Amino acid sequence: MRTYLVTGGAGFIGSNYIHYMFGKYGDSIRIINVDALTYAGNLENLKDIEDRDNYVFIKADITDKDAIAAVFEQYDIDRVVHFAAESHVDRSIKDPEVFVRTNVLGTAVMLNSAKASWELPDGTFKPDKKFLHVSTDEVYGSLPEDDSAFFYETSPYDPHSPYSASKASSDMLVKSYMDTYKFPANITNCSNNYGPYQFPEKLIPLIINNALQGKKLPVYGDGKNVRDWLFVEDHAKAIDMVQEKGRLFETYNIGGHNEKQNIEIINIILETLQEELPDGDERKAYINKDLITYVEDRKGHDRRYAIAPDKIKSEIGWEPETMFKDGIRRTIKWFFMHEDWMKNVTSGDYQKYYEDMYSNR
Ligand code: NAD
Ligand code: TYD
Repeated sequence: MRTYLVTGGAGFIGSNYIHYMFGKYGDSIRIINVDALTYAGNLENLKDIEDRDNYVFIKADITDKDAIAAVFEQYDIDRVVHFAAESHVDRSIKDPEVFVRTNVLGTAVMLNSAKASWELPDGTFKPDKKFLHVSTDEVYGSLPEDDSAFFYETSPYDPHSPYSASKASSDMLVKSYMDTYKFPANITNCSNNYGPYQFPEKLIPLIINNALQGKKLPVYGDGKNVRDWLFVEDHAKAIDMVQEKGRLFETYNIGGHNEKQNIEIINIILETLQEELPDGDERKAYINKDLITYVEDRKGHDRRYAIAPDKIKSEIGWEPETMFKDGIRRTIKWFFMHEDWMKNVTSGDYQKYYEDMYSNR
């Protein structure tokens, strides 16, 4: 039975990936989920699979060398899928240090532990071992507003935020292991994800949550920054396909072919909420454009991200499958059906975060 070590599996994309993998492979794989359970990690995301015999959760910090080495000693790991990271740009602007620690040092520990476990005495690696490093398109910097340019795997790195700089550094570390040791790895750089279980500090769940409560919808700057949105299940599928069909040592960009300005996203969410709320629901009265509030721009705010996913399509046959109008409806319905989830994650520390982040805006 093939054994996967997933880091950050209690977060947004990691938990969706674990669901996707059990949905696809059932009992024919085993998943070991290593997560430190920071504010962004939530075992509720995995409640429906926690009792499976082929699933193990280990609470550990990826910067803890001994803890990670122990995981590799205890289990014969075949695949690493490395999601664990600090992932929010605004937080990185306020407190960059933890981003360097987790994203750079944590990735170094993961690489070193996998290498130590998989390396043979002659310096080659045990057969069929693979490490996939999950990264972001933000490492490529910002594109001009018009659609004259896209991010390709060959685009130069030009990160601007402490978050993207830390992810760029982690990508370079993975590259150095591939170049120096022929370490069996891939890097994927993906565009913005949305879907179930996303923490409401990110644009889409924050807007859904605020709108449902009749709170202001904070739009940074002029609201015309562009992101290329991908439904999270499509990302999970792409990661699996890269490990199954991709060429080792290659980078694959994963994108949604779905560029939208932030203000467009907010308007679509407002319209979809109106359509999905049942007649007579009192929230229908206040969910409208009057909630939109333009606030101070993010420092160093990248204008446009857009991926040309040509390589992954031609080499591997992956394409985004979920149309945005369907994906956003599924996401909104999920948040309707999981109001307790939202209540739990927005209690406690989240309140303080929200006040700190938005009180001066
Ligand atoms: P997330 O913030 O929702 O989840 C991160 C997870 O990592 C959490 O479960 C957290 O507890 C865990 N974690 C954090 N620090 C840790 C540590 N030191 N040790 C062990 N676990 C730790 O993030 P996400 O949105 O699911 O992103 C997952 C990965 O995908 C990240 O590497 C991110 O850079 C990348 N990515 C995200 C997006 C996006 O739109 N969200 C897009 C492209 C790439
Ligand atoms: P975010 O979800 O934080 O993802 P990223 O910065 O990694 O792309 O933000 C998406 C876009 O939405 C980005 O241009 C910033 C903007 N934004 C707002 O306008 N208001 C908000 O409250 C948030 C969280 C983001």
